[in-house]
Amino acid sequence: MKNILIIGANSAIAKATARLYAQEHCRLYLLGRDSAALAEQRQDLLIRGASEVDIAPLDVTHFAVHEAVIDQAVGLLGQLDLVLICHGSLPDQELCQNDFDAALEAFNINALSVISLLTHLCRHMMTQNSGCIAVITSVAGDRGRQSNYVYGAAKGMVSRYLQGLRGRLFPHNIDVVDIRPGFVDTPMTEHLPKGALWASPEQVAQAVVKGIAKRRTTVYAPAFWRLIMLIVRCIPEFLFKRLRF
Ligand SMILES: NC(=O)c1ccc[n+]([C@@H]2O[C@H](COP(=O)([O-])OP(=O)(O)OC[C@H]3O[C@@H](n4cnc5c(N)ncnc54)[C@H](OP(=O)(O)O)[C@@H]3O)[C@@H](O)[C@H]2O)c1
Repeated sequence: MKNILIIGANSAIAKATARLYAQEHCRLYLLGRDSAALAEQRQDLLIRGASEVDIAPLDVTHFAVHEAVIDQAVGLLGQLDLVLICHGSLPDQELCQNDFDAALEAFNINALSVISLLTHLCRHMMTQNSGCIAVITSVAGDRGRQSNYVYGAAKGMVSRYLQGLRGRLFPHNIDVVDIRPGFVDTPMTEHLPKGALWASPEQVAQAVVKGIAKRRTTVYAPAFWRLIMLIVRCIPEFLFKRLRF
């Protein structure tokens, strides 16, 4: 893995993953909303061994700039060996179910921005005939739960999109990896009580790097979530709709 574009690079999971790629002396291009945090991360990654690190600001809800931002990244990196999309937000479900503007914002950040970015990225990557696209979705996308279905629907939309994209890019020798973390202790979830099922960003980063190296189609992170979600998906709907979670 040589040239890596990370979108949503200030996320805790993205940062932990970037550190692992820095140790492999990769060249990194980081896109994120907070330029000062990106600059700080750039220094850290160079110290850890990254061969080069470039940064640029991106608010992913500014769809109009996506094409130019991707063109700029491609112009600088040339070959895109890996694109890792990490940004996301955990919306307030109760607010979203009563206020469409809040739901739309959640869909824009968690789903539509990803689809817009992938649309521009694919144009470039298909001319390379190589590379890997990895997107952090969520186990929440596997089944709609009443406590979190706006976020779950947005993440599920991306997972379905990736499934189709995988087939489209297969003849072009481009792999598409859907990374589905469970509960991870990051700024996004700092308000939630923690328990035995929780993982650290570093644990998830290990799973991300391993899953990408093995070109897995779907990576549950940590791996035990594959079994949990298999069970969750098997619960009959007449029972599932009665579960208060
Ligand atoms: N934590 C979990 O339990 C969990 C579970 C399953 C999936 N995930 C997914 O994992 C990914 C990484 O999240 P995380 O857990 O590492 O949380 P995090 O540290 O809070 O990272 C979320 C990142 O998304 C960025 N972001 C949000 N809105 C944005 C926007 N409009 N434009 C650009 N960037 C924006 C944030 O930018 P700022 O730094 O500028 O705020 C932040 O860097 C997300 O896709 C999340 O949905 C997380």
